[in-house]
Amino acid sequence: MKISTLIVSQLLLFLLIPPPFHRSIIAHAAAGGWNLLLSNIGISAMHMQLLHNDRVVIFDRTDFGSSNISLPDGRCRDDANETALQHDCTAHSVEYDVAANSVRPLMVLTDVWCSSGSVMADGTLTQTGGYNDGDHVVRVYKPCGGASCDWKETPNGLAQRRWYATNHILPDGREIIIGGRRQFNYEFYPKKQSEKSYYSLPFLVQTNDPRIENNLYPFVFLNVDGNLFIFANNRAILFDYVKGVVVKSYPAIPGGDPRSYPSSGSAILLPLKTSSTAEVLVCGGAPKGAYISANNGNFIGALNTCGRIRITDPNPQWVTETMPMGRVMGDMVFLPNGNVLIINGAASGTAGWELGRNPVRTPVIYKPDSPVGSRFEVQNPSNTPRMYHSTAILLRDGRILVGGSNPHTYYNFTGVLFPTDLSLETFSPSYLDSNLANLRPKIIAPISQSKVGYAQQLDIQFSIPQGIATGAPIMVTMVAPPFTTHSFSMNQRLLVLSGGNVTAQGNSMFRVRVVTPASGILAPAGYYIFFVVHRDIPSEGIWIQIK
Ligand SMILES: *[C@@H]1O[C@H](CO)[C@@H](O)[C@H](O)[C@H]1NC(C)=O
Ligand SMILES: *[C@@H]1O[C@H](CO)[C@@H](O)[C@H](O)[C@H]1NC(C)=O
Ligand SMILES: *[C@@H]1O[C@H](CO)[C@@H](O)[C@H](O)[C@H]1NC(C)=O
Ligand SMILES: *[C@@H]1O[C@H](CO)[C@@H](O)[C@H](O)[C@H]1NC(C)=O
Repeated sequence: MKISTLIVSQLLLFLLIPPPFHRSIIAHAAAGGWNLLLSNIGISAMHMQLLHNDRVVIFDRTDFGSSNISLPDGRCRDDANETALQHDCTAHSVEYDVAANSVRPLMVLTDVWCSSGSVMADGTLTQTGGYNDGDHVVRVYKPCGGASCDWKETPNGLAQRRWYATNHILPDGREIIIGGRRQFNYEFYPKKQSEKSYYSLPFLVQTNDPRIENNLYPFVFLNVDGNLFIFANNRAILFDYVKGVVVKSYPAIPGGDPRSYPSSGSAILLPLKTSSTAEVLVCGGAPKGAYISANNGNFIGALNTCGRIRITDPNPQWVTETMPMGRVMGDMVFLPNGNVLIINGAASGTAGWELGRNPVRTPVIYKPDSPVGSRFEVQNPSNTPRMYHSTAILLRDGRILVGGSNPHTYYNFTGVLFPTDLSLETFSPSYLDSNLANLRPKIIAPISQSKVGYAQQLDIQFSIPQGIATGAPIMVTMVAPPFTTHSFSMNQRLLVLSGGNVTAQGNSMFRVRVVTPASGILAPAGYYIFFVVHRDIPSEGIWIQIK
């Protein structure tokens, strides 16, 4: 009786609401829902970084010409070296305030196009490089509560030009900057006096096809042994960056197709559960030859395979898995429960100006712990194509912030296949469905912005209205907010904390006791979002600084 009334009222709603909204209503009932947050943030979200004050720093490039948002306080930028507009009163970076759902313009002085970055231990975003007058620049953005903070630039902060490089935060609190266009080397920031300004990395020569330069934005992860896993083109090494030696060479990914830019698959370090094993998952991309073909007007179908490898094994081997559909320029984003969302991108073509076709609007969730054959779960589609230069990141409340898409050298809103997109929307996985509210944990203590040390016992108090389901484990995860651009999330890291003993405290209240990571190798110092997860349903997260 109750159910049929519900169906009738939903049907009525369905008939009363105009067509564009039909899909989102149905969508939310099945697997995940979409919401438009802002239709025009003034720029296209090419690079995104969430900071510990729940603001997202977003930027595209200074050489797109005028953006759709003015610089603050009537300021203008005069730069004789700028390739597009030498006198420019528009902003190319904004700060998005999640709670207020609003943006304010920020001012970059030099070109940040196709750059990279890391959040440092104190929560400051340290972005590096870009193009033209910005390619040697280091820019720092220190988050503040109000509207006073903005970018600060150090003109010659880098030893080498860094355009399409990858950064990673290190256990000593610095960042490493690897590669970039025609840069077969790496450097640290900040540098120690005893160090060279940069070091060569022959692996980047070996994986470079000079016609395509298909090893850009390499996939870099800090392994649990302290070495860096570096994947470029179709293969990877384990690299001891302290001694500058290759510790291990991994076999080529099966099939031998390239996966890094401009082939632009994506990759993720799967949830870390112990201090001795780590696995990497690489998914999608454009097959060998696709870039040259696309430049000749022939858009080849994207790869539908993922390679998964336990990088800590003595004799590591790739295991191939097949996605429900091919995808190039996808983003791989951690959900708080350790599942991976694969979102955005196209079914054919490749990364690069005008080179993608057939948007894939349907995200897929990958469940790393499910049996092979039932790991992928297709989600509900978005209305918006998210092609080249689109991004997706996890927010503290469990939603995924999605933006960007501009495959053109300017802002082109008409007369093109995939108009420049200035919107921000969210994808809400089904764990946010309101009918799960009674099962959703809520963290009571500690409070957000607390600090913890390494290898420390941590008690988290939480409530679940309906209590803990019989036999359901309670999991505590911590997620590092990544720097996301060009289908790769630098520093993305999720740890499942050990322990997990739960004590009931009456009135739907519980306490879970976990142990924080043993060292900065497992979790470099900085701000993480902690979640309590019950039956795959995460609480809203809290920010915790580990140091
Ligand atoms: C955005 O920019 C385009 C192209 O310059 C322009 O036609 C349009 O009016 C702008 N829109 C807003 C809201 O500023
Ligand atoms: C332009 O670039 C040159 C060479 O890098 C530099 O000396 C000069 O200061 C720059 N001019 C402006 C206006 O930024
Ligand atoms: C894109 O916009 C630029 C600048 O407004 C214009 O010169 C160019 O022709 C446009 N491209 C297309 C494909 O419409
Ligand atoms: C969890 O509880 C068991 C049984 O009471 C105990 O032996 C174990 O030490 C506890 N673990 C933690 C991390 O507190």
